[in-house]
Amino acid sequence: MSRRIAVAAEQVPAPGGRALVEQAGKSLALFNVAGQLYAIDDSCPHQGSSLCGGRLDGRVIQCCAHGLRFDLASGYLLNSTALKVANYPVELIDGQVFIVIAPEESAP
Ligand code: FES
Repeated sequence: MSRRIAVAAEQVPAPGGRALVEQAGKSLALFNVAGQLYAIDDSCPHQGSSLCGGRLDGRVIQCCAHGLRFDLASGYLLNSTALKVANYPVELIDGQVFIVIAPEESAP
Protein backbone atom coordinates (compact mmCIF):
# COMPACT_ATOMS: atom_id res chain seq x y z
CA MET A 1 0.00 0.00 0.00
CA SER A 2 1.26 3.43 -0.82
CA ARG A 3 1.39 6.23 1.71
CA ARG A 4 0.22 9.74 1.14
CA ILE A 5 1.85 12.73 2.71
CA ALA A 6 -0.59 15.61 3.05
CA VAL A 7 1.00 18.97 2.32
CA ALA A 8 -0.49 21.86 4.28
CA ALA A 9 -2.02 24.50 2.03
CA GLU A 10 0.40 27.18 3.23
CA GLN A 11 3.33 24.90 2.38
CA VAL A 12 2.32 24.38 -1.24
CA PRO A 13 4.62 26.57 -3.34
CA ALA A 14 3.26 29.12 -5.78
CA PRO A 15 4.22 28.82 -9.48
CA GLY A 16 7.99 29.22 -9.76
CA GLY A 17 8.38 28.39 -6.09
CA ARG A 18 9.58 25.47 -4.04
CA ALA A 19 9.15 24.09 -0.55
CA LEU A 20 10.89 21.63 1.69
CA VAL A 21 8.45 19.13 3.08
CA GLU A 22 9.72 17.20 6.08
CA GLN A 23 7.31 14.55 7.16
CA ALA A 24 7.16 10.86 7.96
CA GLY A 25 10.94 10.67 8.18
CA LYS A 26 11.43 12.03 4.68
CA SER A 27 12.82 15.27 3.34
CA LEU A 28 11.12 16.06 0.09
CA ALA A 29 11.53 19.01 -2.22
CA LEU A 30 8.28 20.16 -3.78
CA PHE A 31 8.47 22.39 -6.86
CA ASN A 32 5.80 24.29 -8.69
CA VAL A 33 6.68 24.72 -12.35
CA ALA A 34 4.01 26.76 -14.11
CA GLY A 35 1.28 25.28 -11.94
CA GLN A 36 2.52 21.69 -12.14
CA LEU A 37 3.79 20.21 -8.88
CA TYR A 38 6.80 17.89 -8.75
CA ALA A 39 8.09 16.09 -5.66
CA ILE A 40 11.56 14.59 -5.35
CA ASP A 41 13.83 13.46 -2.53
CA ASP A 42 15.71 16.44 -1.19
CA SER A 43 18.93 14.54 -1.64
CA CYS A 44 21.10 14.57 -4.73
CA PRO A 45 21.83 11.01 -5.90
CA HIS A 46 25.42 12.08 -6.51
CA GLN A 47 26.60 13.00 -3.02
CA GLY A 48 23.44 13.83 -1.15
CA SER A 49 23.37 17.61 -1.35
CA SER A 50 20.02 19.32 -0.90
CA LEU A 51 18.24 19.85 -4.20
CA CYS A 52 15.58 22.13 -2.77
CA GLY A 53 17.98 25.06 -2.95
CA GLY A 54 19.19 24.20 -6.45
CA ARG A 55 18.85 26.34 -9.55
CA LEU A 56 15.57 25.73 -11.34
CA ASP A 57 15.39 26.13 -15.10
CA GLY A 58 12.03 25.05 -16.50
CA ARG A 59 11.55 21.60 -15.01
CA VAL A 60 15.25 21.02 -14.63
CA ILE A 61 16.84 21.32 -11.21
CA GLN A 62 20.56 21.86 -10.96
CA CYS A 63 22.35 20.67 -7.84
CA CYS A 64 24.36 23.45 -6.18
CA ALA A 65 27.17 21.14 -5.15
CA HIS A 66 28.63 19.93 -8.45
CA GLY A 67 26.12 21.16 -11.00
CA LEU A 68 24.44 17.94 -12.07
CA ARG A 69 21.02 18.57 -13.58
CA PHE A 70 17.92 16.43 -13.15
CA ASP A 71 14.58 16.38 -14.91
CA LEU A 72 11.91 16.86 -12.25
CA ALA A 73 9.38 14.84 -14.23
CA SER A 74 11.44 11.67 -14.62
CA GLY A 75 14.01 12.17 -11.85
CA TYR A 76 16.78 11.24 -14.26
CA LEU A 77 20.01 13.01 -14.84
CA LEU A 78 19.61 15.13 -17.96
CA ASN A 79 20.27 13.14 -21.17
CA SER A 80 21.13 10.06 -19.19
CA THR A 81 19.63 7.24 -17.16
CA ALA A 82 22.79 6.70 -15.14
CA LEU A 83 21.59 8.58 -12.08
CA LYS A 84 18.12 9.18 -10.77
CA VAL A 85 16.69 11.08 -7.87
CA ALA A 86 13.60 9.45 -6.37
CA ASN A 87 10.49 11.28 -7.53
CA TYR A 88 6.94 10.95 -6.32
CA PRO A 89 3.53 11.51 -7.87
CA VAL A 90 1.64 14.50 -6.55
CA GLU A 91 -2.13 14.30 -6.29
CA LEU A 92 -4.65 17.04 -5.78
CA ILE A 93 -7.80 15.79 -4.10
CA ASP A 94 -10.50 18.30 -3.17
CA GLY A 95 -7.94 21.07 -3.02
CA GLN A 96 -5.60 19.10 -0.77
CA VAL A 97 -2.14 18.29 -2.11
CA PHE A 98 -0.73 14.83 -1.40
CA ILE A 99 2.68 13.38 -2.18
CA VAL A 100 2.33 9.68 -2.89
CA ILE A 101 5.08 7.44 -1.56
CA ALA A 102 5.16 4.04 -3.23
CA PRO A 103 5.80 1.07 -0.89
CA GLU A 104 9.33 0.37 -2.14
CA GLU A 105 10.23 3.99 -1.52
CA SER A 106 9.01 3.91 2.06
CA ALA A 107 11.55 1.32 3.17
CA PRO A 108 14.19 2.86 5.45
S1 FES B 1 25.97 16.24 -4.79
FE1 FES B 1 24.69 16.98 -6.37
S2 FES B 1 26.00 17.14 -8.06
FE2 FES B 1 27.27 16.34 -6.53
